[in-house]
Amino acid sequence: MARILVTGGLGFIGSHTVVELVNAGYEPVIVDDLSNSNIKILDQLARIIGYKPDFYQLDLCDEPGVKKLAESEPDIAGIIHFAAFKAVGESVHFPLKYYRNNFYSLLNVLNVYHEQPVNFVFSSSCTVYGQPDHLPVTEEAPVKTAESPYGNTKQVAEEILKDMVAAGSNYKVISLRYFNPVGAHSSALIGELPIGVPQNLVPFITQTAIGKREKITVFGNDYNTPDGSCIRDYIHVVDLAKAHVAALKLMETANFTGYDVFNIGTGKGSSVLEVIYAFEQTTGVKLNYKIGPRRGGDIEQIWGDVNKSKNILKWQTELDLDTMMLSAWEWENYISQNPL
Ligand SMILES: NC(=O)c1ccc[n+]([C@@H]2O[C@H](COP(=O)([O-])OP(=O)(O)OC[C@H]3O[C@@H](n4cnc5c(N)ncnc54)[C@H](O)[C@@H]3O)[C@@H](O)[C@H]2O)c1
Repeated sequence: MARILVTGGLGFIGSHTVVELVNAGYEPVIVDDLSNSNIKILDQLARIIGYKPDFYQLDLCDEPGVKKLAESEPDIAGIIHFAAFKAVGESVHFPLKYYRNNFYSLLNVLNVYHEQPVNFVFSSSCTVYGQPDHLPVTEEAPVKTAESPYGNTKQVAEEILKDMVAAGSNYKVISLRYFNPVGAHSSALIGELPIGVPQNLVPFITQTAIGKREKITVFGNDYNTPDGSCIRDYIHVVDLAKAHVAALKLMETANFTGYDVFNIGTGKGSSVLEVIYAFEQTTGVKLNYKIGPRRGGDIEQIWGDVNKSKNILKWQTELDLDTMMLSAWEWENYISQNPL
């Protein structure tokens, strides 16, 4: 069984990907420093997949530590690199914290496995497009000047990976540009675990619905969109997790060489107000929300052209917005009754 190193594998997207790797017959090896995750997710994963996956608690910025990891785990066929800090707003205030963590962790991992053929999947983001000139945005759209240090780490990391492959590396690399991952596993045993006030819409919705927050503010209803609120391409985290399996499978074929990049979304945009209504309709829970002023740094609208993913990655989403809302709600209920 091919062993796949999953950095940041106890986080939101990483934990769901561990499950899909096992479903697809891979053997995940998780590395996480628990800076934004909980060790009990390992037990939750065991309840879903039937055994406790191999786990190393390690800060990937620790170069000697990463060397030791590679000595203990020499037979790695693939790496899925999730480990990074991801709070856009925080990155504006603490840029060095973001550049340090997101680059050192990437470079250390790349350095220790570069002498063997490894298929590498990188967690990139649709933030690289900024506000695109054309929608849906394709992978050929220009990368815009990053709006935050966090966004910049994704752009520069893509450049690093491209340069490394162009120089004749043993790595094959796929960067997946995620749109907006939401929802949770159908077991409700894993999901998004925001520390402090959620930065994203859906955990804010579920926390408000359950009474942890008083109300939701919709940031602006005067955008140039049908209902005036911002539009995003929300994708179910389980569909997103499966895209990583598809990326590994593609790199295992002889005709894939080098580096490529794929949009990972549904190809459909939903407004903030549509998401709120979808939540209310699927769960039957009324939300307390109000319209507030626009929030600095928000782009107006984005959704992805996903034809390249469909045609080349042979992957597409299966789960709709209602399923995203219902699964996020079930997870919120679970975690409120069974705090980790
Ligand atoms: N969630 C999103 O909306 C989104 C969108 C686009 C891209 N991404 C990217 O996807 C990846 C995963 O995101 P997520 O939402 O699952 O985030 P997350 O914070 O839930 O998961 C990241 C995991 O990495 C770990 N980690 C961070 N720095 C580490 C280090 N130096 N060493 C070891 N472990 C470390 C954290 O403890 C956490 O478990 C990130 O790279 C993120 O930038 C996320």
